[in-house]
Amino acid sequence: MQAIETGREQQRAEELRRQVEELGPWFHNLHLPGGVQTVPDHFIGGDFPRFKWLEVQACVPADLAGWRVLDVGCNAGFYSFELARRGASVVAIDSDQRYLRQARWAARQFGLQDRIELREQGVYELARSPEQFDLVWFMGVFYHLRYPLLALDLLARRTRRLMMFQTLTMPGDTVYEDTQDHPIEDRQPLLDPGWPKMAFIEHRFSHDPTNWWVPNHAGVEAMLRSAGLRVTARPADEIWLCEPDPTIAAERWHTDAQLESLLGAIGEA
Ligand SMILES: C[S@@+](CC[C@H](N)C(=O)[O-])C[C@H]1O[C@@H](n2cnc3c(N)ncnc32)[C@H](O)[C@@H]1O
Repeated sequence: MQAIETGREQQRAEELRRQVEELGPWFHNLHLPGGVQTVPDHFIGGDFPRFKWLEVQACVPADLAGWRVLDVGCNAGFYSFELARRGASVVAIDSDQRYLRQARWAARQFGLQDRIELREQGVYELARSPEQFDLVWFMGVFYHLRYPLLALDLLARRTRRLMMFQTLTMPGDTVYEDTQDHPIEDRQPLLDPGWPKMAFIEHRFSHDPTNWWVPNHAGVEAMLRSAGLRVTARPADEIWLCEPDPTIAAERWHTDAQLESLLGAIGEA
């Protein structure tokens, strides 16, 4: 009897492996039932993105019942699954059909399909809907966007309680504090390593033509503030936890005017 059970489990694992192969290549290593993994030898090294989740998970409420979560660039759904397991109702968007196919399939394997709404949707398309989310999960996407501040401004306005933000960054943690104002002939401070900056990638970075911008640490924090967010924690390298800061948002009226005219233009296109 035991032998029959073991045989069935082996068959099931074989079938899962075949389907994983068919759906690949994968970017998220998912641990599927029966011990099958989607990409155990990840090029990033380690068990990705599980090791990142372990770095940040303590910053996320253990009970997300009643929370609406937006997972931007959900890929194969690793974070959506973890957040749904904590009770959240998740909207997971990605612009890539292949990854969404993986996420749909994996959601069924985990029995989480009823807690996660998977949408083929680009981040800018959120401009057309007034949806609000308690938690916006914005990890690993910012630097892939040609218009990253547009996305950040949009997402900040969709965030009710928390945003988990991650981006590729330039080396260095220094922050040049004196950024309030400088005369036009005094440009030297712009060259300070701690002045908020983003390196523009014209061609490729890490062999990837979808990498567009690499900010420094000071730049990330300045952009988050400027989008109306307050940093509440830095749970790991290149990761920031933020919440809406109404006092900053109120000062950014001129950004809102620009955003509205831009979104009007997008809506009409
Ligand atoms: C580096 S992966 C990060 C995946 C996941 N968020 C993580 O942190 O592991 C970038 C993901 O963002 C998606 N993506 C890129 N541009 C996007 C856009 N404009 N709108 C929505 N998703 C996008 C890609 O298809 C890919 O799944």
